[in-house]
Amino acid sequence: MSKEKLTGVKGMNDLLPDQSGLWQWVESRVAEVFHQYGYREIRTPIVEPTALFVRGIGEVTDIVEKEMYTFIDSLNGEQLTLRPENTAAVVRSVIEHNLLYDGPKRLWYTGPMFRHERPQRGRYRQFHQFGIEALGLSGPDIDAEQLLMIARLWQALGLTGENAPRLEINSLGQKEERLAHRAALIAHFEKHASALDEDAKRRLHSNPLRILDSKNPAMRPVVESAPLLKDFLGEASQAHFNAVLAILDAHKINTTINPRLVRGLDYYNLTVFEWITDKLGAQGTVCGGGRYDTLIEQMGGKPAPACGFAIGVERLVELIKELAQPQIETGLHAYIVHWGEGSVGPALAVAEQCRGLGLAVQVHFGEGGLKSQMKKADQSGAKFAVLMGDDERIQGVATIKSLRVESGQQTVAMAEVGSVIAGNSPGALGAAQ
Ligand code: HAM
Repeated sequence: MSKEKLTGVKGMNDLLPDQSGLWQWVESRVAEVFHQYGYREIRTPIVEPTALFVRGIGEVTDIVEKEMYTFIDSLNGEQLTLRPENTAAVVRSVIEHNLLYDGPKRLWYTGPMFRHERPQRGRYRQFHQFGIEALGLSGPDIDAEQLLMIARLWQALGLTGENAPRLEINSLGQKEERLAHRAALIAHFEKHASALDEDAKRRLHSNPLRILDSKNPAMRPVVESAPLLKDFLGEASQAHFNAVLAILDAHKINTTINPRLVRGLDYYNLTVFEWITDKLGAQGTVCGGGRYDTLIEQMGGKPAPACGFAIGVERLVELIKELAQPQIETGLHAYIVHWGEGSVGPALAVAEQCRGLGLAVQVHFGEGGLKSQMKKADQSGAKFAVLMGDDERIQGVATIKSLRVESGQQTVAMAEVGSVIAGNSPGALGAAQ
């Protein structure tokens, strides 16, 4: 058998234990804020039929054209895809289970997504999202409330003031408005055909809107002089957009209207937005979303409006690490340090007694004298070390030592270790007795 070293798949990361505490902290805060706004969690499979994403996201998008992990299920020949995003899958589930039968639904999700992109900082092949979908509501109040929710989330995560991502917003209007704009765009790009790169030429007739998204600096002049969709919006679309902006204004959310914001997925109409930071280099979009009023019908459901967004967890965590530096505790209450012949039995008994009271306790196993065990106790992040040496054992006692507050120490009967720790903050322990 080959002894070649095995490594993970490029662009797919392990979340190591020294990082998982921060992820859990972020996850719990996000779940809390979503809950505050009345959203309930939905969990859908990681694998879906390929056709779902082709139909949902759009055939002429980067994701569907070149980023999907698609394979044939060898057992039945079905074509399947690792989900590159979750809006299409949530819509599928909502239709399949008729979730809108009794009115609108506010749903949230989290989990891994897969896109075969070129890996770099902030861009991975397996990444994670927190997502929100509100289905059955036509807005603009719900669009605006979702943006307020995101602003509150930045706050809850310690991303305040300058450190909070900034909001860019646009309206993509309705289909007829986009068609009129599209015709004007094609005419414009045809007039400047010699200035178009290969990608743009290919998209000219299939998806000219996406040309506006071009990152090619040589394309800038022709993109910047292109007609803007906002000049093609009808009264109703304009009113929707203005209503969203008015709510944001009333809540003092700093907002930049970006008439070139088009998003990379085809299902959007009316409101689209992104929250961007310049603290993460090239991949600065932390959150993106908008309204998708025709997707449910397009996927075979009864027509119903909807809007939502997704936040990139890796980018969010990176931003928090860079800017907010929250103190993450391991949540361990005690580390049991013990030595001498037969010390394991009483140590385990004290640990179980503590756990019975709901405490989190780690017992030292393996080699190690007092000094090295105390070092491990400190590294574990525990609030207390419980010391059980030969002398203590003979007397039936244990010494509880605070690891976080100077000189807090107390010797108590073994049977009372759990209740003393449960009832004490580190500072409350008396001086050495
Ligand atoms: P999206 O803009 O494709 O939208 O992705 C949302 C967020 O996921 C991005 O802003 C970014 O933070 C993160 N993200 C995307 N690709 C990667 C990657 N390769 N590596 C790391 N992070 C990434 C959607 O997925 C829509 N489903 C959002 C939505 C929900 N719209 C309506 N409802």
